[in-house]
Amino acid sequence: MKLIIITLIVLLYLICLVLFAIGVEQVFHLILGKAPSLASQNKLREAALQQIARDSSDAKTIIDIGSGWGGLAREIARRFPNARVYGAELFPMPYLYSKLRGIFFKNTKFVLGNAFKFMKNQNFDIGITYLLPEQMAQVQEYHKHFKMLIVIDFPLPDAQPVRKIKLHRDILGQHWIFVYDLRDAKREIRNA
Ligand SMILES: C[S@@+](CC[C@H](N)C(=O)[O-])C[C@H]1O[C@@H](n2cnc3c(N)ncnc32)[C@H](O)[C@@H]1O
Repeated sequence: MKLIIITLIVLLYLICLVLFAIGVEQVFHLILGKAPSLASQNKLREAALQQIARDSSDAKTIIDIGSGWGGLAREIARRFPNARVYGAELFPMPYLYSKLRGIFFKNTKFVLGNAFKFMKNQNFDIGITYLLPEQMAQVQEYHKHFKMLIVIDFPLPDAQPVRKIKLHRDILGQHWIFVYDLRDAKREIRNA
């Protein structure tokens, strides 16, 4: 009985420690001006996935720029088994979680670090992202790295989407999906 109580206390302690670490990490997100690890809602994911299916179901490389807990990347990997799906995440806790769950998805690869640094010397068929509005200018700087870019909620500051899909409104405001066709963008990097 004593052993069970001690085990439960240790487990509770560990859970509190992990929750505390996640909380501290989210505060850092805000201090550093990075999007919190808020997972995209299923409705947003579904709408974004429909865009991939519509235009680029044969995509070979897809990256979730700021992959958080990895849910969106896993869903893409499940629906598009022939694609290699990358998820790049800046913060360790969500990265570790996505890495662990990614074990069951052979076509995923999660990397820890700044997604923009990771993408620097690579091209991808599709980029998908759900970041803060103030990060969109940086996403736009990388437009030549993709054939298609799908942006959840916040548009690129100076680019014209081929489609702009209005979704539901909730406590976070009006939700949108913006689709950019970048096939004609002059590529500087060739190692896709
Ligand atoms: C709103 S969440 C979206 C998670 C996931 N893409 C989804 O849709 O469920 C944004 C994530 O991007 C990460 N992030 C922000 N800036 C980043 C950067 N420069 N490089 C990599 N990850 C970044 C944040 O840490 C956060 O976990």
